[in-house]
Amino acid sequence: MLPFLYFVLLLTVSSFGFSLAEKPQLSNKTFPKNFSFGATTSAYQIEGAWNLDGKSQSVWDNATHRIPGIIKDLSNADIACDSYLKYKEDVALLKALGVQHYRFSLAWTRILPTGFADEVNEIGVNHYKNLIRELKNNQIQPMVTLYHQDLPQVLMDRGGTLNPLFPKWFEDYARVCFESFGDDVKHWFTINEPYIDCTVGFISGGLREGIDNYICAKHHLMAHAAAWHLYDNEFRARQGGKIALVLNSDWMEPASHSAEDVTAAATRMQFIWGWFGHPIYYGDWPDIMKTRIAMRSKLEGFNESRLPELTQEEIAYIKGTNDFFAVNTYTTTIVQAIEEPEISSPSLDKDIGVNAYQCSDCIASPSMSWLKFVPWGTRKLLKWFKDEYFNPDILITENGWADGTGQLDDDVRENYIKEYLSNIRDAMEKDGVKVIGYTLWSLLDNFEWASGFTAKFGTIQVDFSSPNRTRTRKKSSFYYERVCRTHCLVGTCEE
Ligand code: NOJ
Repeated sequence: MLPFLYFVLLLTVSSFGFSLAEKPQLSNKTFPKNFSFGATTSAYQIEGAWNLDGKSQSVWDNATHRIPGIIKDLSNADIACDSYLKYKEDVALLKALGVQHYRFSLAWTRILPTGFADEVNEIGVNHYKNLIRELKNNQIQPMVTLYHQDLPQVLMDRGGTLNPLFPKWFEDYARVCFESFGDDVKHWFTINEPYIDCTVGFISGGLREGIDNYICAKHHLMAHAAAWHLYDNEFRARQGGKIALVLNSDWMEPASHSAEDVTAAATRMQFIWGWFGHPIYYGDWPDIMKTRIAMRSKLEGFNESRLPELTQEEIAYIKGTNDFFAVNTYTTTIVQAIEEPEISSPSLDKDIGVNAYQCSDCIASPSMSWLKFVPWGTRKLLKWFKDEYFNPDILITENGWADGTGQLDDDVRENYIKEYLSNIRDAMEKDGVKVIGYTLWSLLDNFEWASGFTAKFGTIQVDFSSPNRTRTRKKSSFYYERVCRTHCLVGTCEE
């Protein structure tokens, strides 16, 4: 009787149905032939060569040099993986992995050192042309992010993403990139993770929490839309590519089945995914954001909502500007309802007004506190996108696991890839979600922002103590290679 009761209890008190009670079978369905497997990186995190060949400083060069203490191991990415110089070696590794695509980002500071389009740095442009050519010669599709956190410092000095001219600066930069590389690029990403850029990754003096986050978000959406319209009006017919904004976050699992917790989780989904997704797919901020921020702003003594209103013209400009849905996702957060947070200084967290925490009995990344191994959350998340955003084509632009050592024997990463992909395949098969590709973060161990080199996400190890930055394949890379080549997760698959 007791074991039975325990089982019932597990199923009723836990919304983690199968994580605690039973382990799901790995999918044995082959991924479709045109499903694209890839690996990804970003410029600041791997390139190094921070001041070579006319490149100017990004906000990350500037901040890591000025205040090394903001990085856990006091490091910076001046050299990182040295990929600016070693790009051919990286492409050879991608080739060995058997990937169909490589997602990387362009350093704005290499292409336009003044931040503006008045001076195009041909050496920087040629570097990326060479990288793209090398990829194409090896039958690897380049997928290119225009902006991945490394804003030119000269633009930050002018207010960065808080300046209403930011969308115009971004559009001018995008034009140079479409003109220079567009004949060879079929998948463009405008901005990587605006949520991060407008919250934790947002380096600016005097940021006012709960105010500037929302201004930054509006400018990111306008910048993204400007690049999308530019591409659509002037480049698409000739170059035939697609362009999307890369959104990120977790699946939000209600802490219990209570109506309050379910609403709390739905609220957090809208405040994080919907913050950017809703304007793009519906044309305005999610209602719950408008209502809660207006309500709290009033009680805090503001004359108007801290969430900037979008005009009808802006709504129309932003709506419909995603050719597919690009997603970075790694884990699941549990969400619980709480009393309304007290009225004091404004903040995004208080605006959301829920308790969000991590699963305590899931495998935890030894180096990233936010990263837990919760593969089933990704299936729920994908189904949510299908229902919420009119069944879009979804490209997973990032997903991966971090340890602290970079060890070659990386079984947890291998299992992570296996189980996450299995849930993705189930979402396609059983929930009818249109996932078109998967991209592993990351090709290489690299500079993990505030964690420096203490967190290792690569499926390939980089020896940062060697001037050669020697690359060595980890165990997971051999598994991932098999998946990329066979489109199958297990020994034998069926169609
Ligand atoms: C998201 C970001 O795009 C990437 O830069 C970062 O390194 C990974 N997630 C892991 O945190």
